[in-house]
Amino acid sequence: MVLKQMGLLLKSKNFVLLIVVVFAFLLSRCNNEDKTTNPTAKVDTATCSSKTINPNGDSELALLMRKMIQSSASLKEMVKQGKLPEQFPEEFLKIHTAKPTNSDTKKASFDGFANNYIDNLNTLYHSPKQELTRNYNAVINSCISCHSEHCPGPIKAIKKLSITQ
Ligand code: HEC
Repeated sequence: MVLKQMGLLLKSKNFVLLIVVVFAFLLSRCNNEDKTTNPTAKVDTATCSSKTINPNGDSELALLMRKMIQSSASLKEMVKQGKLPEQFPEEFLKIHTAKPTNSDTKKASFDGFANNYIDNLNTLYHSPKQELTRNYNAVINSCISCHSEHCPGPIKAIKKLSITQ
């Protein structure tokens, strides 16, 4: 009985058409999510994600990073004048849990790099005036270390944040 109904369904042209359409849709979605097989999904050099594979906006981690680069730019100006902001930027501790654009972006070494960055940031916020520049540059170097393995795109922009002595 069930088989007979299935047979009838399959004979219906509309049903077959529907299946074809659904498959075509699913296939096109998979291709869009696969960077390597989709030549149009170019990786933006300013980011390590692609707008094509991330149509739903920016990831939590990407947004956090954007705050980090902005904050570093103003930190650089302050350090050059021998000053520091009063508040430690607690929100950057979220680097461990913030979700990246692609779940495979955070490799096993991510947390080690993240700890190194937080440690250097802590040292900077507790450093004596004469070591501000050195400790600030150490923070920037910890951004670069993680990026060289996880997301090389923004390295050029990050390097510009170093203070040349
Ligand atoms: C522990 C690893 C790690 C550290 C440390 C790190 N980053 Fe990132 N950064 C990433 C990853 C991974 C992404 C990609 C996020 C995504 O695709 O969702 C990223 C993305 C970015 C982006 C691109 C954001 C966008 O618009 O899409 C910028 C800019 C950036 N980071 C700057 C910095 C700066 C500046 C520092 C240091 C103050 C820093 N990062 C420290 C791993 C790190």
